[in-house]
Formats: sequence, C-alpha cells, structure tokens
Amino acid sequence: MIKTKAAVVYEIGKPIVIEELELDDDLQDGEVLIKYTHAGLCHSDLHIKNGDMEARLPMVLGHEGAGIVEKVGPGVTRVKPGDQVVCSFIPNCGTCRYCASGQQSICDMGAGILEGGLPNDRWPMKNSKGEAVGGMCMLGTFSQYNVISQASCVKVDDDVPLDKAVLVGCGVPTGWGSAVNTANVRPGETVVVYGIGGIGINAVQGAAYAGAKNLIAVDPLENKREKALELGATHAFATAEEAMEKVTELTRGQMADKLIITTGLVEEPQVTTGFHTVGKGGTVVLTGLNKLDLDNIKLPGSIMTLFRKTVKGSLFGDCNPTTDIPRIIGLYQSGDIKLDELITKTYKLEDVNEGYEDLEEGKNVRGVMIHQH
Ligand SMILES: NC(=O)c1ccc[n+]([C@@H]2O[C@H](COP(=O)([O-])OP(=O)(O)OC[C@H]3O[C@@H](n4cnc5c(N)ncnc54)[C@H](O)[C@@H]3O)[C@@H](O)[C@H]2O)c1
Ligand SMILES: [Zn+2]
Ligand SMILES: [Zn+2]
Repeated sequence: MIKTKAAVVYEIGKPIVIEELELDDDLQDGEVLIKYTHAGLCHSDLHIKNGDMEARLPMVLGHEGAGIVEKVGPGVTRVKPGDQVVCSFIPNCGTCRYCASGQQSICDMGAGILEGGLPNDRWPMKNSKGEAVGGMCMLGTFSQYNVISQASCVKVDDDVPLDKAVLVGCGVPTGWGSAVNTANVRPGETVVVYGIGGIGINAVQGAAYAGAKNLIAVDPLENKREKALELGATHAFATAEEAMEKVTELTRGQMADKLIITTGLVEEPQVTTGFHTVGKGGTVVLTGLNKLDLDNIKLPGSIMTLFRKTVKGSLFGDCNPTTDIPRIIGLYQSGDIKLDELITKTYKLEDVNEGYEDLEEGKNVRGVMIHQH
C-alpha cells in the first residue's frame, strides 16, 4: 500500500477535493504502477465535475497523462520499470473484434471508462473512509501515482519530453484524428472547425497537414481565433453564421467538404448550422460531447439523403493509440505538429480548481498539471 495525493470529485458542481488516498500496489495480472509526471486539463474531466457527463463518483479526474513505470505485475509485456509512457484514454486489449480490425478507439475494454475501476473490476484506490475511488478513464492522471492496465500504456522513447507529449494522451490525437481520420480531409478541401480548445486546435493542425485549402476556425473567443490562425487556419470567425457566409463565398455556393464540431458542449443549433454549412457529399464530425441522454441532433433527413451528407461521431480521433501516439510524437519531433504552442499555463495538483476555472473562462488552449513527488 502506498499513499498518493490526488484530485477527487465527490459531488457534482462542488470544487474538486485534494486529498491523500491509499493505493494498493500489490499488482495483479496485467497491472502497472505508474508515477505520473504530467497531466492535461481536458474539458471531458470538467463534464464529470459539472455533471454534463455522468460518471461513478468518487472519481480521481484526469485522463490525459504521462509518466514513468515504477513496477509491473505478472503478465505485463508492453512496458517495464523505468519506461516512459503516454497513457491512452481508451485502453486497447489488442484482441477484441474492434482492436483486431484496427479500431482500437472502440475497444471493448473502453466500456468501463466512466466507472473508473480496472478492467478486472479491481479498485486499487481508497479514501480515508475506506471507500473505493475510481479513476477517470481507468487512469486518474490527477494523482501522483496510480495503478493502471498495461492496455492503457503506450511506451515512448526515453528522449521524448513528457511535459509536451502528455497532450498526445487525448487532445492531440482526438483533434488531429477527427480531421485526418474521421473527416478524412483531402488536399484542396474546404474545412470548418467549431470550437478551438485543446481538441479543436488539433483538428485545425490535422486539417492543415492533410491539405485543406480553406480552413475556417470558429470560436467566440479572440485568443482562440488567433491561435487557430497561427497554427494553420486561413480564416477565423466568432460565429458559425459568419463562417457559413465566408464558406458560401469561397466555394461559390458549393459549401464546405468537412465540418468538425469540437465545442465544449455540443448543442442542437451548432449541429444544424454545421449540417447546412457542408455541401453535397459533405461530412459533419461530432467530437465534442454533452449529456449522454441529450438529443442534440435534429436534422432534415431528406436533405441528408438527397445531398448525400454524412454525420458521424469520432472517438479519440478514430486513432489506434499503439501506432498513432508514436506517429504523432514523431510528427512533433519533425516539426509537423506543434505541441509547445498549445500549452497556455502549467499548474500544481493543488491548483486544479483554478486550472478548470481558467478553462471555463476560455483562457487556456490547454493547461498542464506538473506533478510534484
Ligand atoms: N470524442 C472524443 O474522443 C473526445 C475526447 C476529448 C474531449 N472531447 C470533448 O471535446 C470537447 C472539447 O474539449 P476541449 O478540451 O477542447 O474543450 P475546451 O473548453 O478547451 O474548448 C472548447 C472551445 O469551444 C468554444 N466554444 C464554445 N461554444 C462554442 C460555439 N457555440 N461555437 C464555437 N465555439 C464554441 C470555447 O470558446 C472553447 O474555446 C468537449 O466536449 C470534450 O468533452 C471528446
Ligand atoms: Zn480528453
Ligand atoms: Zn480491444
């Protein structure tokens, strides 16, 4: 048993509690003890705190993480002590129907990510009252240490800077892949991205890399629009309506090929305007989230049929973490993907509430927590 300081959500809408937890490090089959060095502040954790996405509580937040393997349990073959690891917010077993067909982001092991126990239904974290505490996405990266499945670990080279590579645990592949994989952006296309946060800025980077000719970013905040223009957008607007007007002009009425929604909360008007901003054969990608039971899509089906439009969801940018996390890190090392420019501010674990206030106020493209040990 070891002690670890962590950021725990007990009640929806209440501040996140910083406390010391007991972590059972008597590792079982396939388990890894990780010392987290860095964690990213993604909006999905805020959804848990605000109740916009229902999870089992109490839960240690944090699903964008990187660290060093301290110890491994029996049967662990993917990593060894001392390895640097970027965590994948969806574990991949490697053998289920989805993993085996190259769709690791919908691995069956992902079923438990909002529960927070390990795949073998083990709950290694307990609070001082002896209650089992889950970890967001089976990771709980807002903890100094945690026990995670080897299925959540992607080993990266020793010279990879984890303070930047941490973003490749969620935000970068989710956004980049939403453009490159899910939207399948092709050279010369017109692409629109709604919402330039930690996810959307990477959809901009992905669409630019894939060769979008017109790349239009939409965000009500000026700092976000500036960042989008810095990292590849050709135009930026505060509203979806202005973007639609520009798309009409740029394409002589043919409208956009792809539109990606990465706003903090996806709401019906965004989806409706997005649907009408893509043209014939166009695709709308939904990457942002909202309450699990909210019907936030209401569209004219006949227009969808006659114009052969597609609306599709994207999870983890439809990436395969075991191959795409190293691939994206390689593109960072060659200068093709920017990571340093995405980090607005760093925080200590104790400052997690301030970090989420900054996110809610729109100050951060991405905030990163640096763990102290
Ligand atoms: N599908 C996945 O795999 C996946 C993974 C991670 C995060 N997410 C989700 O993606 C969303 C974005 O996450 P993030 O961390 O980038 O959040 P963020 O808060 O950093 O960014 C959201 C941005 O959207 C902007 N915005 C809000 N309303 C808007 C509107 N109507 N039009 C245009 N822009 C608007 C905000 O100003 C902000 O810049 C969240 O819902 C998150 O839960 C999905
Ligand atoms: Zn995330
Ligand atoms: Zn699987």
